[in-house]
Amino acid sequence: MRHILTPQDFTVSELDELFNLAADIEANPKKYANACRGKKLATLFYEPSTRTRLSTESAMLNMGGSTMGFSDASNSSVSKGESVADTIRTVSCFADIAAIRHPKEGAAMVASQVSGIPVINCGDGGHQHPTQTLTDLMTIRSLKHRLNNMTIGLCGDLKFGRTVHSLISAMSRYEGIRFVFISPDELKVPDYVIEMIDEKGIPYEECIRLDDVITRLDILYMTRVQRERFFNEEDYIRLKDFYILTKKQMRKAKNDMYVLHPLPRVNEISVEVDSDPRAAYFRQVQYGVYVRMALILTLLGIRVNEDGSVTEQPL
Ligand code: NCD
Repeated sequence: MRHILTPQDFTVSELDELFNLAADIEANPKKYANACRGKKLATLFYEPSTRTRLSTESAMLNMGGSTMGFSDASNSSVSKGESVADTIRTVSCFADIAAIRHPKEGAAMVASQVSGIPVINCGDGGHQHPTQTLTDLMTIRSLKHRLNNMTIGLCGDLKFGRTVHSLISAMSRYEGIRFVFISPDELKVPDYVIEMIDEKGIPYEECIRLDDVITRLDILYMTRVQRERFFNEEDYIRLKDFYILTKKQMRKAKNDMYVLHPLPRVNEISVEVDSDPRAAYFRQVQYGVYVRMALILTLLGIRVNEDGSVTEQPL
């Protein structure tokens, strides 16, 4: 059985296949309309979510499957003290695949160790968020027609942002990548991530001012300051509006520098930027559905033939 806990659970060539499948889904949605008929997705969300949960559910519904789950753990037996391990063992009796989001790092891994069904990590604390990364890579690939040879700027909360950590580790596997980390000192990329890119010899720089580097970027990945992971409110208030991307700054950027954001946005991108053709964050949401459809098919071992019939391959 196969799970996705980090983007590294797929090799680069498996990711390529996954993105090709997602692109085929985008081009021929009807072909996939019954691919998951009779299959059930359970969404176990112990933390707030809009996009990730609804996108994963929508992916299953688009393929004729059904969904169940909770979006607020206080309504589930978790409030009675049930462990993640016992919950997933139970859910394995009801569903064919589970998507889990939890505030603790490693929760999805614990779940996968006892699960009878494939587990999709939809975010474990400040650690990883692989399906957002698949979405990000699919977006970059679709807009830039490549995943190699580019300078990626990541801006904002690089310390607590799990989407940042997942994206850095995933992009580190492509040739010719250079990172520019733009954050206040307090929100720098954690040491374990820096050590990983140092080991691979990937060039990177760290800076505070976006204005100093924006002209050189091919992708700008903006992030929200992760209020819920701060130890005190004063620090959050001091740092929350550190970056606000404006139209004026966008004038300095390359004509093909796309702006991505995992969303939700708070203040870090001014709404005046939304009409810029390089603002790709809402297109990114759409790519997220295709890529999650491709992921569900892959984890369930379902192959869709040209006529829409399916072959289930035991993994
Ligand atoms: C992100 C998350 O939950 O980590 N949101 C998402 O899934 N698209 C980013 C965030 O909450 O800032």
